Amino acid sequence: MTGLPASLRIARPPRKPAGTAPRGFGITRRLDAWWVAPVVQGTIFTILAGYLFFSGILWTPIFGTAYEVDGYLSPLFSPLIAPAWLPWFISPGLLILWIPLGFRATCYYYRKAYYPFYFADPPGCAVGEPTVHGRYAMETKLPFLLQNFHRYFLYLATIPLFFLWVDAVLSLFPEGNPRLGLGSVIFFVNVALLSAFSLSCNSLRHLVGGRLDCFSCTRNQRVQYTLWQRITRLNLHHMRWAWVSFFSVVLADLYVRMLALGVITAPAIHF
Ligand code: FES
Repeated sequence: MTGLPASLRIARPPRKPAGTAPRGFGITRRLDAWWVAPVVQGTIFTILAGYLFFSGILWTPIFGTAYEVDGYLSPLFSPLIAPAWLPWFISPGLLILWIPLGFRATCYYYRKAYYPFYFADPPGCAVGEPTVHGRYAMETKLPFLLQNFHRYFLYLATIPLFFLWVDAVLSLFPEGNPRLGLGSVIFFVNVALLSAFSLSCNSLRHLVGGRLDCFSCTRNQRVQYTLWQRITRLNLHHMRWAWVSFFSVVLADLYVRMLALGVITAPAIHF
C-alpha cells in the first residue's frame, strides 16, 4: 500500500484478542431477536439498490421505456449525458448512476447496515462470526479498501445533486409555461431529502469541523464551528435521511416511468 496517498494508508489491523467474541457463527448470549434488524435492513437495501440498477442501466436499453416525459427527467439520469456515439445497449444512466450508487454504497451508515447481512461480519453485536473470517481486514485490503474513497464520492455527489435542484425548478416550466404538477412536488421532496442525506454525511461533518483544534480562535473557525454544529444536528438523524432519501429517489424514478408507460396521468395545475 506504499503507493497510496497518506490519507488512504491504513495500519495493519491487530489480531482480534482471544475471548472477546463468542466462537462460532451465530453463537451469542443475546436473548433478543438480534437478527431481525440486519435481515430487514439488508433485504430493503438489496431491493432498492436492485431497482436502481435495473431502472438506471437495464430498463431503457432492454424495454425502451423512456426516462424523460412531460418535462420530468428521472433523477437516475440527471445530469443527462447522452452523446450520439453512445451505443443503444448502454443506458445514459450508467454514465451518472455510479456516483450516487458509489456514494451510498460507501456511506458509513449503510456499511453498518449491509455488512451484517452480506458478510456476517459480524452478524450482530456480540454475535459469533463465521470462523472463515479469521483476521478482520475488511477495509484494509482490496476491494473493500475502496470504501475509503467515500469522501471523494461525497465531492462528486454534489454534481448530480445540483442538477436535481435544477431539474425540479425546470419541471415547473415545461415549454416555458408555468405549472404545478405532482411530479414537481415529488421532485422537490426528493431533492430536499437527498440534500439532507448529503449534508448529514459523516465525512462532510469531519471536513467542516473535525480537524479544528480551536472553535473560537478566529472568525473563520467560529463560522466553521457554527456550520459543524448544524451538520451535527442533521448527522444525528443520518440513518433516517439515508432511508427516506433512498425511497424517495426510487419513487421519483418510478413516477416518471409510470408516466412514460401511460400507467398513470400527471395531475397538474396550469397557470
Ligand atoms: S456517511 Fe453516509 S453519506 Fe457519508
